[in-house]
Amino acid sequence: MNEAVEYVRRRTPLRPLIGVILGSGLGDFAEAIEERTEIPYYEIPGWPKATAVGHAGKLVVGRVGVREVAVMAGRAHLYEGYSAAQVVFPVRVLGQLGVRGLVVTNAAGGINLSYRRGGLVLISDHINLQGANPLVGPNDESLGPRFPDMSEAYSRRYREIARAVAAELGIELSEGVYAAVLGPSYETPAEIRYLRTIGADLVGMSTVPEVIAANHMGMKVLAISCVTNMAAGILPQRLTHDEVLQTGRMVRETLVRFLKALVPRLEV
Ligand code: HPA
Repeated sequence: MNEAVEYVRRRTPLRPLIGVILGSGLGDFAEAIEERTEIPYYEIPGWPKATAVGHAGKLVVGRVGVREVAVMAGRAHLYEGYSAAQVVFPVRVLGQLGVRGLVVTNAAGGINLSYRRGGLVLISDHINLQGANPLVGPNDESLGPRFPDMSEAYSRRYREIARAVAAELGIELSEGVYAAVLGPSYETPAEIRYLRTIGADLVGMSTVPEVIAANHMGMKVLAISCVTNMAAGILPQRLTHDEVLQTGRMVRETLVRFLKALVPRLEV
């Protein structure tokens, strides 16, 4: 990990306090970063490569207004065969670089029937059904405690700020609970009914490992889902990765506008 931290430090004089992870088809914000240094993932020692279609695979360090940021365009997923520890390697590197606040975006299926395709949802909490946790194994006390608290995994304060910014920009923003599954097959209709019963509003295959690792390190987290499709069994149609990517393209301008206004406002 130290090698990766040193490598990024050598590539840029900036010291980002906010990190941003961009999900499937949502990578456009990386192009809005000023004074940027782009580092392809494969150049950073130990950094997992993003293999999913729609994921760019580069770290962009630069500024949004006055705020120095590190933006990940593309992320590793458990379903690609990476261990949970590998999936969160980048978050830990960002933490060691000094990042105090993490913004995570993802593509998700909408379980809550009040959601619509293309809508943005602030994640208020999660249910981890991935059968994995990045903190399994010996605990590195220099990163955080053995048993980290998760009762405010998604910062209340950051959510307040996000709601205020969305209201100012006239962007509709719902709020809900994200269920993380392993994938890569989409859920069955029965699984979606089960997820709704246990309190999930959204379902996706990412985010939770990173959020756990960020909380472990004491970072504040904000997470935004883009409802790229209604979850299985809700509409009389099949789910495709094409629909997910297409919806990503539909909302990316709104998401870029939102993140540009939001990121400089987050307290660190
Ligand atoms: N299920 C799981 N993950 C997803 C979905 C879905 O419906 N849409 C985008 N990511």
